[in-house]
Amino acid sequence: MSRKIILMLFLLLSAASVPVAARKVKQVDRRAEKPVPEVEKKVIAVQTAHTGLVLIVHKNGVVTMAHYGKKVLSPDEFMEFNSHQGSAYGNREMAFPTQGGSFLGTPALSAVYADGSRNTELYYVSHDSSAGNGVVTTTVRLKDYVTSLEVALVYEAYQDEDVIVAHSEITNPSKTPVMLYDYASSSMVMPVRKALLTHFWGSWASEMNVDRTVLTHGIKTLESFRGTMATQNTNPSFLLSLGTDRFDENAGEVIAGALQWSGNFRISFNMDNSGRLGIVSGINSRSSEYKLLPGASFQTPGMVWTYSAEGAGKASRNLHDWARNWCIYGGGKINPTLLNSWEGAYFTFTTETLLRMIDDAAGMGLEMFVLDDGWFGSDFPRDNDKQGLGDWELNSAKIPEGIDFVARYAHSKGIKFGIWIEPEMVNPRSNLAAAHPGWVVRSPERSVPTQRNQWLLDLTNPDVQDFVFGVFDRTMQLSSNIDYIKWDCNRYVAGMGSEYLGEEQNRFYLEYVQGLYSVMRRVREKYPDTIVQCCSSGGSRVDYGALRYFNEVWTSDDTDALARAFIQYGTNMIYPACVTGSHVSAVPNHQTANVTPIKMRFDMACSGRLGMELQPKNLTPQEREFASAAIASYEKYRDIVFGGDLYRLSSPYDDPLYSFMYVSKDKSRAVVFSFNLKYTNRDIGGVVMRLRGLDSGKKYTVTELNVDKSCWWGSGKAFSGDFLMEGGFNPRMFKLYESSVFYLEAK
Ligand code: GLA
Repeated sequence: MSRKIILMLFLLLSAASVPVAARKVKQVDRRAEKPVPEVEKKVIAVQTAHTGLVLIVHKNGVVTMAHYGKKVLSPDEFMEFNSHQGSAYGNREMAFPTQGGSFLGTPALSAVYADGSRNTELYYVSHDSSAGNGVVTTTVRLKDYVTSLEVALVYEAYQDEDVIVAHSEITNPSKTPVMLYDYASSSMVMPVRKALLTHFWGSWASEMNVDRTVLTHGIKTLESFRGTMATQNTNPSFLLSLGTDRFDENAGEVIAGALQWSGNFRISFNMDNSGRLGIVSGINSRSSEYKLLPGASFQTPGMVWTYSAEGAGKASRNLHDWARNWCIYGGGKINPTLLNSWEGAYFTFTTETLLRMIDDAAGMGLEMFVLDDGWFGSDFPRDNDKQGLGDWELNSAKIPEGIDFVARYAHSKGIKFGIWIEPEMVNPRSNLAAAHPGWVVRSPERSVPTQRNQWLLDLTNPDVQDFVFGVFDRTMQLSSNIDYIKWDCNRYVAGMGSEYLGEEQNRFYLEYVQGLYSVMRRVREKYPDTIVQCCSSGGSRVDYGALRYFNEVWTSDDTDALARAFIQYGTNMIYPACVTGSHVSAVPNHQTANVTPIKMRFDMACSGRLGMELQPKNLTPQEREFASAAIASYEKYRDIVFGGDLYRLSSPYDDPLYSFMYVSKDKSRAVVFSFNLKYTNRDIGGVVMRLRGLDSGKKYTVTELNVDKSCWWGSGKAFSGDFLMEGGFNPRMFKLYESSVFYLEAK
């Protein structure tokens, strides 16, 4: 048999073994494809006074992003804009890229449907916008025509502050659940080929250190998976200097972003091969796939964006303005100066200790006394950090007269009273742990790791939410003279497990934060006027989600003025000075052992919300006298620190002489802070500081505060803003830890 015949026989035999129907090549039935309705091509412009974001709706329903930056005068001109990327679903400029179509980058949304399919393609349905009260809200509705999944992109444009807050809302109108594996708040894509990313890293007592890196091709991600204390190692915020590898305070294009979420987050920067930078930001969905039930909607947290054409300084000022006007609870109004008992007394005090601290606080001119940890627990007295958390009744061995007695005493001395709680936590050695083992976050049959000897309570459980609210509520009932609560949170999530959630452990990280916010809403309904500080081992919960409920944060447990230069520099890049609690403590510093002069400690603390955290009776008479004078002078200018514009004149990272200033909104007053962080040499003495933000035509009297002899020849005299900004201001500060505060007032 020839080879040809053998081959033919083989082919015939193998064909016979295949069912007849399948023998035909299966054609894709294109009639089964769901058509996407054609729409009218249009441009959607989301604009503030000076910035704008432009989306293009293409005829085939694809929505791409064409611009975020300076406001363009006629956004409609983008109608003809051809990016040479085409407008197929999945091109690189998708306004909200999904897993599906031909999109291959980092998706803002990925979903798995009941039939196992994993494609989502979002097409334009409609959009509208409404204006009111300085905010224009634009909603762009998108839909997947196969699965019916709907996504609304919501952009709130804060006109005066040049801030756009973006979030998404995902709705499942189908009859079967949809699992969401990525559900970002916002996606931005820009034609950026070079950018310097400024972001923040840290650890306990060393938060908000500044890192700078030029973005290279590939993906750079900022993320947290700590559950609680989400911001201890990294903050959900950044600045991006565009088109440059240099950080510039005063010039160039800068975009800044900050996520309003107090749990796991993820912000990824994808510099791709087409010269585009995509930024996808939102909740970190790792281990948190979200089951979107039929008929349900899921709203993601807001991503706060701003753009500045005048460098990083303006980007920070925009965020600060927005935060004070629209976000921070209490609107950044002045919070009282205070003496906190922690570093002065730790767990060891009696009523007498507290009363004398109150006397001293009032005597030095402070406005509040805050009783920190250690006042509670009776069967397991909180005499150290090993026991008592969860048992929020008074330790009457320490304070037999009760909290009301101490609070009334403070009021009788003319100062307010605050108290510490840590309601999300429990020590294993406590009555609460014994009574409610099922409330502890733990994985069954595994050992429960403690951190700072404590466990986390499961805030996804509504009973725990009631308990946590109850801790706040019952503490407030201890006295009608409580003005301030310091709310602490000193551990993160490890060995995650929730008895309450049963098989749906994927809900934990998300519902913990939602549980916290729901408790805080109840707190704010009942106690609208109580000042509440957000503390989490210092600055481990510093974000614009928490700040909607809290008046201020405890910036860091590190109270060393030198360390604070760096921590506050970083923190205030994103968050305004009005929220940054900043305390004068004893030397050697308890965290760093550094010894700084009392003046430097005060000058640093006065650049935020001033407080003291030491045992006043250990101050020398001279130190006490200095403290009283510094506190009195702070009252003269603190409204500028709280509500003014921040100008960073130098960076503590790059310059041994670190300075910055705040200018009142009407430019009639200002305060300039300077710190010599490193001795260089004597010749360097009179460094010229070019002030910023003043009115060049106004004449300012410049006075150095809290010194017998000023370090500047011009102190007490008047100069034009022009002179001060163009090189006339050169205080002589060459010694290590010399510091100065200059107050400027226009005639
Ligand atoms: C945390 C806080 C401190 C102090 C202690 C009390 O560490 O950050 O300020 O309140 O807890 O235990």
